[in-house]
Amino acid sequence: MSAAASGRDCYHRGMTSEGQTARLLLRPLALEDAAQIQEVFPHWEIVRYLRNTVPWPYPLDGARHYIENIALPAIARGEEWHWTLRLKSAPDRLIGYIALANAEGHNRGFWLAPPWQGQGLMSEAAAWSSDFWFDVLGFPVLRVPKAAQNLASRRISEKNGMRIVCTGEQDYVCGRLSSETWEITAEEWRAWRAARKG
Ligand SMILES: CC(C)(COP(=O)(O)OP(=O)(O)OC[C@H]1O[C@@H](n2cnc3c(N)ncnc32)[C@H](O)[C@@H]1OP(=O)(O)O)[C@@H](O)C(=O)NCCC(=O)NCCS
Repeated sequence: MSAAASGRDCYHRGMTSEGQTARLLLRPLALEDAAQIQEVFPHWEIVRYLRNTVPWPYPLDGARHYIENIALPAIARGEEWHWTLRLKSAPDRLIGYIALANAEGHNRGFWLAPPWQGQGLMSEAAAWSSDFWFDVLGFPVLRVPKAAQNLASRRISEKNGMRIVCTGEQDYVCGRLSSETWEITAEEWRAWRAARKG
């Protein structure tokens, strides 16, 4: 059995390990996170470019419903891996979210509360999640769709060595918009990472 296959088998049982970057802790999602997510997530600047599967206006029990009925079951099935983001300097305060999914053409989603945006934090979390996707889970390619006008998200893809492989239209919380799918292969990711370190 290859290392990649054994990694996937291990994580197929719904295990998501804790992670860290220079400034962030990535803590596996838990039901207890519902109250903080309910407070931090439902803001227009965060949801407008998310897919319209996010209910809007956001229900009062939206976070709990999502964690209990959508995210935790997908994690338990070994199809998705979700983390809350916290600053190492303030580990009790949830400031964002990143998730990976073994879904055709839609492998990662993330958001960060506005007060913490623009400091390179999601770039750190995205790079960590790419390591997890390729090195731990052993997938051969990472694909992420995004609204073409979501400039901050596009920039993170660009900075992480990704390229656009297809364009189209998609329904977002703010309406139907041009969308792009960005991609990077495991080989490209490892080369990009090595060049960055070297
Ligand atoms: C996308 C998001 C997670 C980025 O988080 P962040 O921590 O601010 O991102 P970073 O600081 O690591 O990097 C953002 C990059 O985009 C750039 N950027 C931000 N806003 C921009 C804008 N309006 N135009 C052009 N570039 C922009 C930043 O300058 C930075 O690039 P740089 O490092 O070259 O300067 C955050 O904006 C967010 O939560 N948005 C709402 C949710 C969302 O859209 N999620 C993605 C769905 S695909």
